Amino acid sequence: MNLIVTTAQKPSPDVIRLANDIAARLCVQFIPRNSHSLATIREKYEVCDLIVVASNGPIIHTAAGEYFFHLSMAELRIKNLINGKHDHMVIAMGLEAGMSVLDCTLGLATDAIVASFVAGETGIVTGLESSQVIALITGYGLQNFTVDSEADITSALRRVKVENAEYCQYLEELPDNSFDIVYFDPMFRNPIYKSSNVNPIRTLANMSPLTPEAIRQACRVAKQKVVVKEAVGSSEFARLGLFTVVGGKYSSIKYGVIDCRPKMAGGGQPWNA
Ligand SMILES: C[S@@+](CC[C@H](N)C(=O)[O-])C[C@H]1O[C@@H](n2cnc3c(N)ncnc32)[C@H](O)[C@@H]1O
Repeated sequence: MNLIVTTAQKPSPDVIRLANDIAARLCVQFIPRNSHSLATIREKYEVCDLIVVASNGPIIHTAAGEYFFHLSMAELRIKNLINGKHDHMVIAMGLEAGMSVLDCTLGLATDAIVASFVAGETGIVTGLESSQVIALITGYGLQNFTVDSEADITSALRRVKVENAEYCQYLEELPDNSFDIVYFDPMFRNPIYKSSNVNPIRTLANMSPLTPEAIRQACRVAKQKVVVKEAVGSSEFARLGLFTVVGGKYSSIKYGVIDCRPKMAGGGQPWNA
C-alpha cells in the first residue's frame, strides 16, 4: 500500500496511540509528524496517500481529495423521514423497522445510516467494504462520531456492523434467505462528478462493475428485495436484468429492484437474466 500514517500537529498521547494502531492494522509505516508539512512527508517518503490522525479521528488525504467520516446527506434524509417525507431508497427497499439489510457497498455509509435508522433497534444493518482504508475510516466514524442532541441518529450509526470484505465472496458464503434486503451502490459506470460526495474516495474505492453472478447470489440471499442504485438512464439496469426501476421524477439516481418475495412463497427463482 503506497500509504503512511502520521498525526496532526501537536498530537495528544491518545492520537499517537490511535495513529500507531491504524498503521499496524494497515501494515504500513507510522511517521511522527515532528512539525513537518504534509507535502514534506509525502516527498520524503515518496507516498501519494497519507492518513492524518487528529483528535476527531483519521483523515485520508489522496490525490482525489480528503475523506474523513461525516454524515453527508444522512442527517437530512433522516430528518425528512421524521417529518413524514419519502426517501426513495427506503421505498425501493420496502424497508421497515425490524428488517435486516446487507449493504454490499458501504462507502461513506450514508445509505447504511439511513437504513439503520429505519430498521431500528430490532433491525440489522451489515455494511461490506472491500477497501481496507475506507472500511477503517468509515468504521471508526460509525463507532465514535456523535450527532449532537440526536441520540437516535447516533444509535443508528453504532448499530451498523462493518465488514472489510468483498461482496462476491461474502455473498457466496451466506446461507439462502439470510437478509431481508441486499443492497448495492457500486461506483457508477458514468460518474456524476459534479454532485458526487464519493469524489474523495474515488482513488481508494473498488471500481469493479456489478456482475450478473453477484445479482444471482444476492437474489438467493435476499428474502424480500435486491436493490441496485445507479445513475438515471444507466444501461446497467438492463445489463443486470433489473427491469423495475424506481426513484424520484427529477432525481439523477434511480433504484433497480428485484422482488424476491415470490421465491419465499414457493414461486421459483426471481432472477433469470
Ligand atoms: C458509491 S460508493 C457507496 C456509497 C454508499 N452507498 C454511501 O451511501 O456512502 C461504493 C463503495 O463500494 C465499494 N465497493 C465496490 N465494489 C465492492 C465490492 N466488490 N465489495 C465490497 N465493496 C465494494 C467501493 O470501494 C466504494 O467504497
